[in-house]
Amino acid sequence: MKSIKIMLNENDIPRQWYNLAADLPTPLLPPLGPDGNPISPDMLAPVFPMNLIEQEVSQERWIDIPEEILDILYRWRPSPLRRAVYLEKYLQTPARIYYKDESVSPPGSHKPNTAVAQAWYNKQFGIERLTTETGAGQWGSALAFACNLIGLECKVFMVRISFDQKPFRKMMMATWGANCVASPSSETNAGRKVLAEMPDTPGSLGIAISEAIEQAVTDPSGKTRYSLGSVLNHVLLHQTIIGLEAKKQLEIAGEKSPDVVIGCAGGGSNFAGLSFPFVADKINGAEIEIIPVEPTACPTMTRAPFTYDFGDTACTTPLLAMHTLGHAFIPPPIHAGGLRYHGMAPLICQSIVEGLMKPRAYHQLQSYEAAITWAKTEGFIPAPETSQALAAVIEEAKNAKEEGKEKMILFNYSGHGLMDLMGYDAYLSGNLTDYELPEEELSKYLKDLENLPKAEMRKTGKW
Ligand SMILES: Cc1ncc(COP(=O)(O)O)c(C=O)c1O
Repeated sequence: MKSIKIMLNENDIPRQWYNLAADLPTPLLPPLGPDGNPISPDMLAPVFPMNLIEQEVSQERWIDIPEEILDILYRWRPSPLRRAVYLEKYLQTPARIYYKDESVSPPGSHKPNTAVAQAWYNKQFGIERLTTETGAGQWGSALAFACNLIGLECKVFMVRISFDQKPFRKMMMATWGANCVASPSSETNAGRKVLAEMPDTPGSLGIAISEAIEQAVTDPSGKTRYSLGSVLNHVLLHQTIIGLEAKKQLEIAGEKSPDVVIGCAGGGSNFAGLSFPFVADKINGAEIEIIPVEPTACPTMTRAPFTYDFGDTACTTPLLAMHTLGHAFIPPPIHAGGLRYHGMAPLICQSIVEGLMKPRAYHQLQSYEAAITWAKTEGFIPAPETSQALAAVIEEAKNAKEEGKEKMILFNYSGHGLMDLMGYDAYLSGNLTDYELPEEELSKYLKDLENLPKAEMRKTGKW
């Protein structure tokens, strides 16, 4: 029997995070302030604690993981690397499919890897309360979980459509002691403005971010900060523990480098977490296809321009150089709630511009079909976001069969779908449809970017 669960023990956990910014062949473009000039780190101080801002701008390749953070992560880390032998057999593919199982964390996804780190650094800095947004509820529940263990108050603005579709996520947040409200809410100026213009809006991550930032920066005590679950450099950094563990586990399995690395990408954090250590290998000459996957309904990487845009709807964040559908983008209510953000992590976008990653988009129905195949072979029920990655994995495995190639595929199983069964219900009862963002709709949102600075497409041309 070949080994299908490759475990590490606590002593083997990586003790440093990997920072891709140190190795990118073309450096990131700087975030810009409202005047179009690069911002300085202290301009972010009302929003984030300085210890995290230092990580955000760091050019150090390796950053030590504090022991107290590891002490919390040991609850579920190192996470298993599994081999999907039952799916391989079903597909009759010569491909070997490995996946990093991030669904084993208490909240059920990769999100607590950074939630714990962010809560810890905030606590060290003397912060007492964190605000945040959440789409599908995975991030909100991860931060609620982390704040409870570290001793911080937690306030979550949850995108209205998910708030209505996913009552169990709210209950998880409440169980860990957080306060969760639907966004747009009447608690903030940003929320009230949207509600006045669009009372029936399903909400968006952009709006929820505006609300969470507003509450953090207007707290007169100065003891509240904002926490973001994806996109930013320090968030991606904390997730690299996934890929670093995977490398050790592949070695134990007697494998060399993967041929293909796949992950779904909403803001980019789980995909970055798995892939960045392999991007480093690719920069150093390894031949690896690195594929971030998104829904056709929200085609940030595959159809949107690389340009400067705000991270939120109310235009309060610095301008980031990224692929963006426009900060006013209101995504259609697809079930992969965590993949509906208008932008993408700048570190991933720069890697795409450089040619180190090749994004793909899949329709909702193909993803659910992949999820059902997975559930019926491997047994686990994936999150709708994870299912987007699965659509690509199955396609790659089928290609390997056609080409008769023994590829090794590695992907990130970013979360379980046990809180997302409404989406499965809709799929199984034939009530889900495919949706491709119409060109006119995209152009309408991109109009808002016409007067913002343009981002230069810098690349070495090596990939
Ligand atoms: C299970 C799961 N996977 C993936 C994502 C996408 O986020 P990111 O791109 O930051 O990993 C989410 C977001 O909520 C999620 O809940």
